Amino acid sequence: MDHKTLVEAAREARQRAFAPYSTFKVGAALEAADGTIITGCNIENSTYGLTVCAERVAVFKAVSEGRRTFKRIAVVADTQAPTPPCGPCRQILWEFCGDIEVILANLTDETGRYQMKDLLPLPFDARLLKS
Ligand code: THU
Repeated sequence: MDHKTLVEAAREARQRAFAPYSTFKVGAALEAADGTIITGCNIENSTYGLTVCAERVAVFKAVSEGRRTFKRIAVVADTQAPTPPCGPCRQILWEFCGDIEVILANLTDETGRYQMKDLLPLPFDARLLKS
């Protein structure tokens, strides 16, 4: 699968965002090891604090469906500058996906490519619990 297919899936998912409070819609598309694409969109709440980001929706959907190995994630927002995953999403992505590639895009262009190890340097993870 090429990057464009994954980015396009994230763009489609973004259209399903529930973001009436911020109006900032985000879509994510996670590629599992077998090539399956699992999408997510941000889902806001009137209490604000219960909002869940697109990336976490995608990861939790995937894990709940039995997937545990991932290759890449694409994240799409309607911004000129890259919209990277927030701190909590980076931690969740690291937990389940490790050092995957993160492709950022807007509605028309790719805006950046990063590795998770660079987005979350010196991570806290299970290795520390075992040492
Ligand atoms: N948001 C995401 O879904 N992913 C990101 O990477 C950044 C922020 C959402 C959360 C909230 O619904 C809206 O964008 C504004 O912060």
